[in-house]
Amino acid sequence: MEQVKIKEWLSLMTLEEKASMCSGKDYWRTTEIQRLGIPSVVMMNGPHGLRRLDEYEVNFDVSDCAPATCFPSASALACSWDRELLGEIGAALGQECHAAGVDILLGPGVNLKRSPLCGRNFEYFSEDPYLSGELATAYINGVQSQHVGTSLKHYACNNREERRMTTDAIVEERALRELYLNSFEIAVKNSQPWTVMSAYNRVNGVYCSEHPHLLNEILKQEWGFEGVVVSDWGAVNVLPEGITTGLDLEMPSSEGYGVASIIQAVRSGALTEEELDLAVERVLQLVVRAAKRTGQPITCDYEKNHQLARRAAADSMVLLKNEGELLPLLTGQQKIALIGAMALNPKIQGGGSSNMKPTKVDDMMEAILDKAGELTYEQGYDLDSEQISEELEQRAVAAAKGSEVAIIVAGLPERWESEAYDRQHLRLPANQEAIIHAVSQVQGKVIVVLCNGAPLEMPWAKQASSIIEAYLGGQGFGGALAAVLYGDVNPSGKLAETFAADIRCTPAYPDFPGAGDRIEYREGLFIGYRYFDSKHIEPMFPFGYGLSYTTFEYSQLRIDKKELTDEDTLTVRMRVRNTGNRLGKETVQLYVKDKQCRLIRPEKELKGFAKVELQPGEEQEVSFTLDKRAFAYYDPELGDWHAESGDFDILIGGSSKHILLQTTVNLRSSAVLVQRYDRQSSLADLIANPRTEPIIRQLTQAMSESRDKHSSEMMAAFIREMPLRSLVAFSKGAFTDEMLEQLLEHANAAAGGSEPVSQ
Ligand code: BGC
Repeated sequence: MEQVKIKEWLSLMTLEEKASMCSGKDYWRTTEIQRLGIPSVVMMNGPHGLRRLDEYEVNFDVSDCAPATCFPSASALACSWDRELLGEIGAALGQECHAAGVDILLGPGVNLKRSPLCGRNFEYFSEDPYLSGELATAYINGVQSQHVGTSLKHYACNNREERRMTTDAIVEERALRELYLNSFEIAVKNSQPWTVMSAYNRVNGVYCSEHPHLLNEILKQEWGFEGVVVSDWGAVNVLPEGITTGLDLEMPSSEGYGVASIIQAVRSGALTEEELDLAVERVLQLVVRAAKRTGQPITCDYEKNHQLARRAAADSMVLLKNEGELLPLLTGQQKIALIGAMALNPKIQGGGSSNMKPTKVDDMMEAILDKAGELTYEQGYDLDSEQISEELEQRAVAAAKGSEVAIIVAGLPERWESEAYDRQHLRLPANQEAIIHAVSQVQGKVIVVLCNGAPLEMPWAKQASSIIEAYLGGQGFGGALAAVLYGDVNPSGKLAETFAADIRCTPAYPDFPGAGDRIEYREGLFIGYRYFDSKHIEPMFPFGYGLSYTTFEYSQLRIDKKELTDEDTLTVRMRVRNTGNRLGKETVQLYVKDKQCRLIRPEKELKGFAKVELQPGEEQEVSFTLDKRAFAYYDPELGDWHAESGDFDILIGGSSKHILLQTTVNLRSSAVLVQRYDRQSSLADLIANPRTEPIIRQLTQAMSESRDKHSSEMMAAFIREMPLRSLVAFSKGAFTDEMLEQLLEHANAAAGGSEPVSQ
């Protein structure tokens, strides 16, 4: 029925009308065609709350927005490792969009954290594609359960903000497939977002909004994406080129420029009307999807959503350090010095297009005061500068001295961390570091609470007894913090990215941000924990790490088979027990390690995780299902994923560095890898392949028999590694060109045989 309607619209549209469907009406809406009764689709930012504007023009003034619930930003939510929570937040966001008449929420963002300096990392989940993809899936399914669409962004490799509109990310195929595209792939396949937003930058020389390989070939054909590819706002280079290669919609309106260029391209034959129709059809499908919601009743309970935002903030906080079990604090029993301008003005969200107006913001001081016996507040530092104020410092020191515990709230100001620019370093402002130092000189019990979108260097870490990484916690942050400090909520967040001790030991250093537009991803596959693990660099806090007020015990790892093929699935089971005396939640992480491989691979990779809630003494079984992709790498020669035969370790633990259970399985590949040999191949290549080894056995035997007492193993190795052509040159006529041609013919025939090759 719908399809008939769309076909009918298409058949009635003029070329001008079709072209206009592929470019925005204004800043936030698609073009309507009143004559045919085709309405606009309304899109607004996202991702952590609805940036709700009643006008459809460009407006950067957040005070003009209508209030909506401000949830923690993605880098915080990712630490919850909680698919269910992400689903709930998605549904709440969907309801708020519905109530506001917004058809599509512009998010979530699943770009990976290549460098912690990227100013927009707060809007992204993780350094790991599996975790990012899984959480994005839950979020998208949540929003779309309310018949509101999402926009999965920014496709792809938008990993720095500086020069983001012209940057050219030079990335090898394996890193693209296994990392940067993989988070999108998981979300697209498992949740079909209504739209995918093409990034501003170029990838390997081509703009993302006119990238046939990324858009038509991978996203649409290979992954089966059914929705609309919308350009990031102003990301279009040449619109007709975009339409040919898989872009469907330019946003925002380019005031007739884009539409005219499409018409002109069709008239000149540069763009066919069939290609244009494909894009228009997808936009019309979006119109139909959005129209389905009209008329449904909507109840949007903002108070309930505030409670959800607070719960999410509490479940996302990561307890990084807790010396002497200073936390949880004792309700009503300790005199508290609350220090830091951020305690009154906490950073609860990031800067840029996602910045929105909360319905209300928890009062942190009030929430802590409610629990503390007595509380004094001191500003400690100035938020607008880095200048150390002696007066503020002295007052803070005096307050800390006169109290039993000091809580210092610190974080990054917006001028340092936002969309559109990157950080220069990983430190806190100097006046905030100075306050931590000064207070810790007079008070042994210092708790540092951090509000920042991405990792920090913490040269002061030793001076604090406890550190809570709260990221950008949204409007419920204040209440959530009090709940965690006083143990009403047992912290269960685990880092979704590695914290390095020093920017100089991060993967993209010193290539980030790079010079000019061209930015080479020289670290290839090795970002995040993949880098720290493989290079044996000790991070300050590893991926997956986070403390709790209780303890957990892992046991009884079981697998349903020891041997499998790449067509099987493997079920992994284990038990986790709460061995402490408080209710707690634990995220069990499963990593896979390929024990030997013909290509370089990371030490291990996350392939499963599960969050469980346990009463004191309670035990639960956790199970994971692994399929081929959990073992596979992307083989650029094959142009496909390949799970190589061999042994794989299944590693289970509480963080990437804390592996508690482990077993090994053997996998047999069903893939036939056909190898072609030529004059540049070596004897070693032929020996390595069980199909071709018998062919050259005679030759290698003859060679080893003819070795006199002076020839050594070294010589044998030397010959094995030479290109085959050299055998002709060095055999003094015993091995001729004709013989080589014959050998190659036999070898290639054998290599292409129908029996599977086991490597
Ligand atoms: C951002 C997108 C955002 C869009 C609309 C762009 O500058 O990169 O994430 O959705 O603007 O505001």
